[in-house]
Amino acid sequence: MTRLDAILRRALDGATLAEAELEYLLRLDDPAACAALYAAACELKFREVGRGVYLRGLVETSNICTRNCLYCGIRKGNSAVRRYEFTLDEIVAGAKLAAEFGYGAAVLQGGERSDARFVDFVTEAVRRIGELPNAPALTLSFGEQTLETYLKWREAGAVRYLLRIETTDSGLYASLHPEGTLEGRKAALRRLREAGFQVGTGVMIGLPGQSTAMLARDVEFFRTVDADMIGMGPWIPHHGTPLGIAHMGTHADDLRRLELGLRMIAVTRLQLKDVNIAATTALQSISPADGRERGILAGANVIMPNVGDLKHRADYTLYDGKAGLDENAEAIRRKLDESLAEIGEFVRYGVSGTPRHYLKRTGARE
Ligand code: 5AD
Repeated sequence: MTRLDAILRRALDGATLAEAELEYLLRLDDPAACAALYAAACELKFREVGRGVYLRGLVETSNICTRNCLYCGIRKGNSAVRRYEFTLDEIVAGAKLAAEFGYGAAVLQGGERSDARFVDFVTEAVRRIGELPNAPALTLSFGEQTLETYLKWREAGAVRYLLRIETTDSGLYASLHPEGTLEGRKAALRRLREAGFQVGTGVMIGLPGQSTAMLARDVEFFRTVDADMIGMGPWIPHHGTPLGIAHMGTHADDLRRLELGLRMIAVTRLQLKDVNIAATTALQSISPADGRERGILAGANVIMPNVGDLKHRADYTLYDGKAGLDENAEAIRRKLDESLAEIGEFVRYGVSGTPRHYLKRTGARE
């Protein structure tokens, strides 16, 4: 048996892999070896979380942000961005569409702010979405907030929260984030747990200066922090950001980050087993025809199609070449049904898709 076969066999038998093994898998580059990795990840996925893909209707509520992260297109310092805020009615309309499509879950994501008006606005949006017929399970993604704010949003009815750690390497973290610290972000993840959320985290993959050893440690962080959900994707340069300007690169570089991103998904599936893992828009942006589908085939089980109105879509550009800028929610849904059928997959309509990991750790029922 080869080293690869032995590692995959151990993961399938339920073992927790060593960091050196995670890194070995992340460094695979032979196509047949990668195919074996993805096949093992899918076998484990089917056993641990079942068949089919959960959808979460995404509303990008606002691109107004108080932070200046060096990679992000909507950073405060990017004066070329046309700033917008969806109204409450527009946000609720997006969530309603998700419910009508049978997505079972919705995500509100936007720039990070913590002023009282913003906190109350989100609270009200959560409350109103909870009153919809077939109200979707609601995820929020608005960055670091106080425990008080997290509790307020949880009590208003939100059940999930996404807060990527972005990278667990303290030097790399500090070099990318003029505000905040790695320790502060970890503390925010703990507050989310304390507030009773199903917690999702994740990283960007292929950042300049990021090694495969760092990524292996990121996966170990996901496991030890006991995350319920993982959302991660390749870093993609944005022409209006300091990081993008310094490291623009070529399409071949994007494709290398896509491949590394797929291996990260597979390795995370093998190590964390029963979590929900998203195939993100960044995968699709590098490979519009099949990026997210390849994420599913590498072990992901969630996709977050946009359900927000088209009018502000192009203003929520975190990176260059973002996919789906001109497709309305209906067109996105139709294409997704088709492309998943093409890879032998299907959507699990009408269920909220609570992470199996969360159900196990809390004893809660779906
Ligand atoms: N490339 C890829 N992902 C990015 N994000 C922000 N900027 C970029 C970029 N240039 C991701 C971050 C953030 C999420 C909302 O978007 O990981 O948490």
